Amino acid sequence: MTAYEIIKKKRDNLELSYKEIFEFVNGYLRNDVSDYQVSAFLMAVFFNGMSDDETEALTKVMANSGEMLKLDSCFNNTVDKHSTGGVGDKTTLIVAPIVASLGCVVAKMSGRGLGFTGGTVDKLSSIPGYKVGLNIDEFLDIVKETNVSVVSQSEALTPADKKIYALRDVTATVDSVPLIASSIMSKKIATGSKSIVLDVKFGSGAFMKDKKRAEILAEKMLTIGKRFNRNMAAVLTNMDKPLGFAIGNNLEVIEAINLLKGEIIPDLYEECVTLASVMLNLSKQIPLDKAEELVENSIKSGAAFEKFREWIVAQGGDISYIDNVEKFEKAKYTAEILSEKTGYISEMDTEQIGICAGLLGAGRENYNDTVDYSAGIILDKKTGDFVNRKERLCRIFTNDKSVIQDIKDRYIKAISFSDKRPEINNPIYKIIF
Ligand code: URA
Repeated sequence: MTAYEIIKKKRDNLELSYKEIFEFVNGYLRNDVSDYQVSAFLMAVFFNGMSDDETEALTKVMANSGEMLKLDSCFNNTVDKHSTGGVGDKTTLIVAPIVASLGCVVAKMSGRGLGFTGGTVDKLSSIPGYKVGLNIDEFLDIVKETNVSVVSQSEALTPADKKIYALRDVTATVDSVPLIASSIMSKKIATGSKSIVLDVKFGSGAFMKDKKRAEILAEKMLTIGKRFNRNMAAVLTNMDKPLGFAIGNNLEVIEAINLLKGEIIPDLYEECVTLASVMLNLSKQIPLDKAEELVENSIKSGAAFEKFREWIVAQGGDISYIDNVEKFEKAKYTAEILSEKTGYISEMDTEQIGICAGLLGAGRENYNDTVDYSAGIILDKKTGDFVNRKERLCRIFTNDKSVIQDIKDRYIKAISFSDKRPEINNPIYKIIF
């Protein structure tokens, strides 16, 4: 079948076979199929969707387009985690060493931040010396030594996803459930862990704002993962407020260290305990309640923090920063944002708060922009808190003095107040297996 016929078939809402999807995607990789033809195809998928068989086929073709790690033949109890991205989401830094301290193996590839959400690779890069760009042998050596390593997404894996994602980004076709599911799952399948836990976020600070759509996406990814014989679970989490109190790269590393040292940070603690327990449950078949007990004990006993130290050292990070967080680079300018009203915080426009952190220097708008590791926000008040006029809502940190007034105005607009205490949502909405 020609590329034209494949596009026409999808346009007419007919089901494509594995062979047709294989030919189309591989033709694109060889440059025999053009950008404009793939753009038309993606738009047809955007409107007509894809069946589970088609989504599985696209996932398989993209996963097979580059190297595939056979983690399962080298390690037992391999477990990966994927977050669809949120503001202040530093859970990987916390759950990876927790489950590694309990005998799971976490060999994880992560992305850099783009837009209003941060990326794990940027957070880890804010630790002086930490190497994110290891080759596959170096990566696996660290996993052998410590049970845990997190590196940036290797160029050798899933080149088809990389090429198609870049096109989706400029053709308004990112927001499609089968395209998102196949993109995420192709990377997870190629990385090779036997168990995969998906943290699918919804709400004002998530990429998927709507809870129902987040649930549909989670179900689709579970279906695809199971077809590749993976143990799958999805945790649906609420992103109506930032996760924890720190937003920005080294500020989030410090918050993660504080939690690993035993500080109970509301919402962040519950979410990390849940994610780590589900990872342990899936990979070692430990009942959830028992897994939760083991996870909490790993934090309390210091085992998780010790594993974190071991991992960071193995990956070249300067341990003196982990042991004395005061050493982390501090931004040149800091300012306080004070409340203009008295009342309960009823809502936070979390995407806007993520944008504020980005404008302070913590994020990037374009893929090749650099980030300022010391920039960001430390919240004092979150949804449900009572605040008096002139009381501090947050502190902001930046090396660019010129943005401060704009951030103050944006932040104030992002916070809504009411006279009555609003209902507070549990950060965990649902776990689906
Ligand atoms: N993250 C991905 O890796 N792919 C998508 O399509 C969306 C988010």
